[in-house]
Amino acid sequence: MHLLNVFANVLFATKISGLKAEFGRSDDSDDDDDANDWLFELQSLRGKCSPNPCLNGGVCDEKRNHFKCKCPKQFVGRRCERGKRVCKRGTCGAGLCLLTLSPPYYKCKCIPPFAPPNCKTIAPCDPNPCQNNGKCVDEDDDDFECICPDGFRGQYCQVDPDDCYEGDGQSYRGKVSETEEGDECLDWNSEFVLDKGSFPAAAFASSEGLGPHNFCRNPDGDKKPWCFIKKNRRLRWDYCNVRKCPTPATTTTKMVPTTAKARPTTIAFTDSIPPFVTTFQPNIPTTTDGSITPESTSSAQLATTPVPPTPLPTKDTSTKSFLTCGKPNPKKQINRIYGGLKAIPGAHPWQVSIQVKPKGSIQQYRHICGGTLIKPCWVLTAAHCINKNQDYRVILGGLNLMQKDQTDQTVLVEGTIIHEKFKETTDNVYNDIALLKLKATNGECAKETQFVKAVCLPKEPFADGTECSISGWGATDTSEYGSVHLLDAQVLLISQEVCSSNKVYSSLLDDGMFCAGYLKGGVDSCQGDSGGPLTCMRNQTHYIYGIVSWGDGCGEKNKPGVYTRVLKYLDWINEKIGGTQ
Ligand code: ARG
Repeated sequence: MHLLNVFANVLFATKISGLKAEFGRSDDSDDDDDANDWLFELQSLRGKCSPNPCLNGGVCDEKRNHFKCKCPKQFVGRRCERGKRVCKRGTCGAGLCLLTLSPPYYKCKCIPPFAPPNCKTIAPCDPNPCQNNGKCVDEDDDDFECICPDGFRGQYCQVDPDDCYEGDGQSYRGKVSETEEGDECLDWNSEFVLDKGSFPAAAFASSEGLGPHNFCRNPDGDKKPWCFIKKNRRLRWDYCNVRKCPTPATTTTKMVPTTAKARPTTIAFTDSIPPFVTTFQPNIPTTTDGSITPESTSSAQLATTPVPPTPLPTKDTSTKSFLTCGKPNPKKQINRIYGGLKAIPGAHPWQVSIQVKPKGSIQQYRHICGGTLIKPCWVLTAAHCINKNQDYRVILGGLNLMQKDQTDQTVLVEGTIIHEKFKETTDNVYNDIALLKLKATNGECAKETQFVKAVCLPKEPFADGTECSISGWGATDTSEYGSVHLLDAQVLLISQEVCSSNKVYSSLLDDGMFCAGYLKGGVDSCQGDSGGPLTCMRNQTHYIYGIVSWGDGCGEKNKPGVYTRVLKYLDWINEKIGGTQ
């Protein structure tokens, strides 16, 4: 997934909206109030009010081809995305400026030993900052210490003895407000957090347990509670010093990594394709040791002639069918501000990672392409992802390629079907579509869960300009070897006419392809995303409209991504999968 180059610098506190490891944990900009507006613009070329582009309760007003957000008092920005600067420098002395919902829209929170009202004077134990009958000891150096009653802990004895979190800590409502490294958490409604444009009204109350406090929470499907902190005048986040609740010994299961630790060897698969057609580079080995190992690509050539389909069992009526298609049930969508973010668990339950190893070898599998689950036993992908000298498997329901999640399902591939007219020339790829038939175990291939679902096949076209979604583990502007986390972004469908203009792809497109993205450049799919989904939504149902196929570079101006037009291949798909599940 290719994002804007500047993302690494301007997307600081997007912890809440997802993006983190790939782009660092720190914030580089301090006061650049409007720096992000053009990013928002990029996401809203249609200028429509539906879906409402205004955040934090802003009311959208449609003006010709533009929109205008009327923001609630304490928010500003084109999309009401930022908290207002209500505290002037120094207003709260050494304390925190917290935003409130009523005038003057802020209050100061002093951090002991600084004392109210202005947090400018030092008075370590006055008033007593220690809770739960903790005793405050005034230390000589203008500091203090709380001596907590038995079992209570935390700097202010605010954490009671049975404060603990279960599972990934989503339900945690305890009072730990300190990171693993001992930093004090910022309040969720502190100006410093809200000002970064990363935070929704949830800062004042939310079902995720956020609110006007600084307790650790896990509102975004992370692995444990975390919080924002201020380090070197920058906004950062970190995991908290929270205790996991004891689990009864019988129910503890150990997670076993799927892959061995051996270093993967190079895959015999890369581009014979001219500079124009960016092929995947098999670069993310699915190791479990936490490191990404870049690989050199081999010189072996990708087949340029159609590969005969692997013989498949003719009929299968034994496998279970899914209840729905195209209805994701994402864990929690707190706020999506920018294109190209770490995907929310369950938001793309049809996204699969297609992984390969040399046929018959004992090497470990590694991610090669994306794919889309369309039926319990069928994955749709790009034909250029398939090479018959490989063994294939797919990972369903996973977000992180490096770790085995509880939600993952690993399923072997029984056979591959490449479009009979798939063809790669020096500057183009035609009929770039293929199907993977998954192997059933006990009559089941993929199991339908919150994290594994099929997408629907489209029935009719979507209009040019529709905002659709792309996702994948492909290369990013900061990591050419791909992203460990599944990323997603919104792109716009571009008309065939515009995309066939001279400055774009002139006569390269045929009716089996379409373009999506932004002619300005920026957000795009990229190497490693191939085969993955471009989905569009209608009546709350997601349809697989495109397959990531090719592009001239990634995110370049006037060179949007080119996608296989799934609609054109409906008959082909139905013919191949027949009545099977
Ligand atoms: N062919 C690439 C792959 O194998 C996908 C490239 C998509 N490029 C783009 N600019 N959208 O992963």
